[in-house]
Amino acid sequence: MATRLGILTGGGDAPGLNAVIRAVARRSLDRGYEVVGVREGWAGLVESRFEPLGPREVSGLLPRGGTIIGTSRTNPFKIEGGAEAVLRNFGERLDALVTIGGEDTLGVAARLHEEHGLAVVGVPKTIDNDLSATDYTFGFDTAVAICTEAIDRLHTTAESHNRVMVVEVMGRHTGWIAVMSGIAGGADVILIPEQPISVEQACRELRHRHERGKDFSIVVVSEGYELTYESGERRTVTQDAATDAFGHVRLGGVGDALAQDIEERTGYETRVTVLGHVQRGGTPTARDRVLATRYGIKAADLVHEGRFGRMAALHGDEIVDVSLREATIELKTVPPAWYDVARAFFG
Ligand code: F6P
Repeated sequence: MATRLGILTGGGDAPGLNAVIRAVARRSLDRGYEVVGVREGWAGLVESRFEPLGPREVSGLLPRGGTIIGTSRTNPFKIEGGAEAVLRNFGERLDALVTIGGEDTLGVAARLHEEHGLAVVGVPKTIDNDLSATDYTFGFDTAVAICTEAIDRLHTTAESHNRVMVVEVMGRHTGWIAVMSGIAGGADVILIPEQPISVEQACRELRHRHERGKDFSIVVVSEGYELTYESGERRTVTQDAATDAFGHVRLGGVGDALAQDIEERTGYETRVTVLGHVQRGGTPTARDRVLATRYGIKAADLVHEGRFGRMAALHGDEIVDVSLREATIELKTVPPAWYDVARAFFG
């Protein structure tokens, strides 16, 4: 009997998910596998919801954003009997699983593999680019391209009105999107979680810029930046206090708070743009399609070789494999050297 392979996408969606699904399925169908999609992340394995992924279903997917099999932030370890249901449904329906996700989804996969021997292989996904065992995650390049275009567009309206434009971008724990798009778009100040420079310092940079003859500025801030003041006060801005199944609060709103601070302290008229889920929507860049495809091929090959508990990763220009555990131990933060490049253009 052919191997039955499931594909699961978990966590926030990212452009390129469908390209991974296509690559895993095409490679595995060619080998005579039966391929099925697990609906909506770990929820689909808890509730036994599958759908066939044949040649017809995986056709035309390269330019398509989102994930055709759905996603969720379900954590089976937080549901009564959840992990047992996953193991039972997996045993009845599948022989192997490819899990495409970020630290949370892959963390569940690593645990199920280590504690229960689940035959699972991982593919790293997050627009935040904060997984430590890989140089880049797919989805990130697309998000950076979207943010860069937004910054370019904001320049012309900022200049016309002599305004400060604050752009809030995603990045829960790390400032990869802010730093990359800020460098590419020529931001005048970039605020990220890893380098909490103070609001006062940011305002000094803006004043300096205006003193040297510029009447407008662009400030890029990561949603996870903690408002930091020289008094020592620090403040994380969240939308509400509730947390998801992985203990994350819903971020968002730091841009507004920062804009208010800037306007009060400098007197410069300030506006805010929150890019939000626009950063995750729509078609992937060519670079993300290629990276996603290479990850998908690697994941299918790892399954075929029976090398479970591994994750496809990019090291330099090579696709390699690392242990799922290694991939989820720590976050990849923005190195100071990267921030220094951005900082060279502040003020
Ligand atoms: O995990 C990626 C991410 O883009 C974070 O930067 C952000 O905080 C989160 O997703 C928001 O996702 P959602 O609104 O889907 O919970």
